[in-house]
Amino acid sequence: MAIVFQSDNFILLNHKEIVDSHYQGKYEIRREFFNINRSFKSDNTAGVKRKRRKMSTHEKNVLLEESLQKFIHKCKLAGYFEENGNEESNQASLEEASKVHNLKCSYPVLRGENNNNECIITKLQEEEYLFPPQCRFFQNDVKKIDDFLSSGEVFDLIVIDPPWWNKYIRRVKKANRNISYDMLYNDEIADIPVGRLNSTCSIVTIWCTNNKTHLNSIMTKFIPHWKLRYVAEWLWMKVTKVGKPVCDFADEEKKQPYERIIVAVKDSEETKCLSEKIPKDIILVSTPSSIHSHKPPLSDILKLYLPENPKCLEIFARYLQPGFTSVGLEVLKLQHVSLFNRL
Ligand SMILES: C[S@@+](CC[C@H](N)C(=O)[O-])C[C@H]1O[C@@H](n2cnc3c(N)ncnc32)[C@H](O)[C@@H]1O
Repeated sequence: MAIVFQSDNFILLNHKEIVDSHYQGKYEIRREFFNINRSFKSDNTAGVKRKRRKMSTHEKNVLLEESLQKFIHKCKLAGYFEENGNEESNQASLEEASKVHNLKCSYPVLRGENNNNECIITKLQEEEYLFPPQCRFFQNDVKKIDDFLSSGEVFDLIVIDPPWWNKYIRRVKKANRNISYDMLYNDEIADIPVGRLNSTCSIVTIWCTNNKTHLNSIMTKFIPHWKLRYVAEWLWMKVTKVGKPVCDFADEEKKQPYERIIVAVKDSEETKCLSEKIPKDIILVSTPSSIHSHKPPLSDILKLYLPENPKCLEIFARYLQPGFTSVGLEVLKLQHVSLFNRL
């Protein structure tokens, strides 16, 4: 069950439980990854100085923070979050994540699928990976998607979490190649043939950082180029195990405790009804994992608006999901058996 608790437009998710639900009680993702006990210190003092110029973001964040606090209070009354939980360091969880980042740094072209209704473990290139039921993957460069996906194949849901080009990843990459990943320029992302891959009544979601250029690219380049219609901007609010934002709220160009999810549909007559049904201002709340850029699967929530047994595609994936075709250079990374416990 993806939704743990809901009040107004806030939805509490349990990332670990969503992942575990793919493995039929046989495996669980290790809970150490989700031991985010304490907010990370952020250097947002410059944001305070600029409050006057950036008032609109500041005001939005003040409202957001207030309504988040009210929501967390309701969650606590309903028995979620640790009321007086320990706020010890996140170090142990971060160390577990660094083992994942160090797993491997070369990704040969691979493809495969699990057609069974059971999850399975398979050895590939000397490493063991856990495969959820009914999944398919292409470890490949998305620029070659036309070569490895059958022509005419279309999907009802397309999830895109782009490797946005940014200085932070570049810096991390210089220091430790394994922790970061390859990045793409916005024009290269716009070139992905999303317009050809979506079915007549499809939903496309795009994860977006708080960088204005990225958001601008989605609105002015990707959406028109991919022949989509903008529907909503949802937020993913990251909180610690005691329900505090993982970092301070800040100016818009700085690190925020939230990321954005742009929800769009194919720009067609058939999707008019669909876009009205999709809620406009959802705020998803969860404790993130310590693995850099690890997003919670949203398919259970999005499936509420999709046909039965939808065909789903994730581009830039690092994990597999039942009912999904997953594409990415590191598509198996978070499926490595070392991330899971056998139950
Ligand atoms: C932001 S991360 C995705 C994180 C993922 N959604 C998760 O929750 O773990 C972007 C991914 O895109 C991959 N990537 C970068 N360039 C790519 C390309 N040209 N084709 C396919 N994948 C690419 C990176 O290696 C990285 O794994």
